[in-house]
Amino acid sequence: MHIPGKMSRTAYLDNGSTTTVAKEVLDEMLPYFTNEYGNPSSIHTMGDNAARAVTNARKRVAAAAGCRPSEIIFTSGGTEADNLAIFGAVMSSGRKKIITSAIEHSAVLEACGRMRETGYKVIVLPVDGEGFVNVRDVAKAVDDDTALVSVMAANNVIGTMEPIAEIAEIAHRHNALFHTDAVQAFTKADIDVKRDCIDMMSVSGHKIHGPKGIGALYVRTGVKISPVMVGGGQEHGLRSSTENIPGIVGLGKAAELAMRTMRGDVKRMTELRDAIIDDILKTHGSYLNGPNEMRLCSNAHFGFGGVRGNDLVLALSKMGVYASSASACSAGSTEPSHVMTAIGRDQSEALSSLRISLSRYTTQDDADLLSESLPKAVRAVRK
Ligand SMILES: Cc1ncc(COP(=O)(O)O)c(C=O)c1O
Repeated sequence: MHIPGKMSRTAYLDNGSTTTVAKEVLDEMLPYFTNEYGNPSSIHTMGDNAARAVTNARKRVAAAAGCRPSEIIFTSGGTEADNLAIFGAVMSSGRKKIITSAIEHSAVLEACGRMRETGYKVIVLPVDGEGFVNVRDVAKAVDDDTALVSVMAANNVIGTMEPIAEIAEIAHRHNALFHTDAVQAFTKADIDVKRDCIDMMSVSGHKIHGPKGIGALYVRTGVKISPVMVGGGQEHGLRSSTENIPGIVGLGKAAELAMRTMRGDVKRMTELRDAIIDDILKTHGSYLNGPNEMRLCSNAHFGFGGVRGNDLVLALSKMGVYASSASACSAGSTEPSHVMTAIGRDQSEALSSLRISLSRYTTQDDADLLSESLPKAVRAVRK
């Protein structure tokens, strides 16, 4: 994809960090900054127009998730959705135990850590060498004191797609709630909250060609959660603050657009991703992190013996190829990613990471530029 204002040939391959806002999304958002800037709580016509825009977006996000509109709560992003699910559900449950996995995003792990500090028991399940949670470990850990099991739908670093429907079923045997962070998987993997028995699911706008600063939490009807943000009582009292109308409109449009072409997009991304993997694995000393099967269509993640991932990302950047060494929130960090450690990589392997992440706008040209640039970048860094 050509990036305006950048060097003539560039390839943006960091879509796991964030994505471009789709033109159709921006077009729908723009009027809500200028002409239609009403507050949905106002009773006049401009307020009504804003409220209608929120209703429409809620329907679109619900259709993409497979739930009722009344089960969608808009938040400021994936992080807030994760926080609301964990703090909200656990605080309103009389139970004292939370189960999660070692490769969750820090929005989940840090929230669970906070709960541990306030006296909750938190069990962090290990994963295997490809990043999979073992359902037997879940079954052993869940009991009648478990408030919540939170396991992500797809990992943001290595793309592992967890067996969330099976895990949800195990949680429900003990009447525990099941939450999934689907920030990476939403609209890129086949998730249906009803079919998969999910009680709560977090999504984020900027990973699906919507804007930054908007997300949503699906909360199944009947699930009791306490608000984290209190005030004016917006979002059924679960998320006070005047609604981010342009953001909500953008998330709704992004979800609707993505669902329209999802099947073809997933197929195309998978084929391109597999070709990229085959190509990169020809580089001396390279290996794949994460699974071959059950891997998110947009994710490829590699290690390169004797190369620091951050150096490789910077060398590629000089050639117009934008990738990442781990995930955006830990990029630039000199500490190994907790995901790499959890799958058994040692410190030097963990620090030699390169994540290539695609979107539905990624082209063969992008893959070609990566293919031309990577061997040069690896050579330059190894020198
Ligand atoms: C799996 C996962 N969860 C949560 C988040 C946080 O989402 P947001 O940036 O919308 O707060 C991210 C973002 O990288 C993510 O990849």
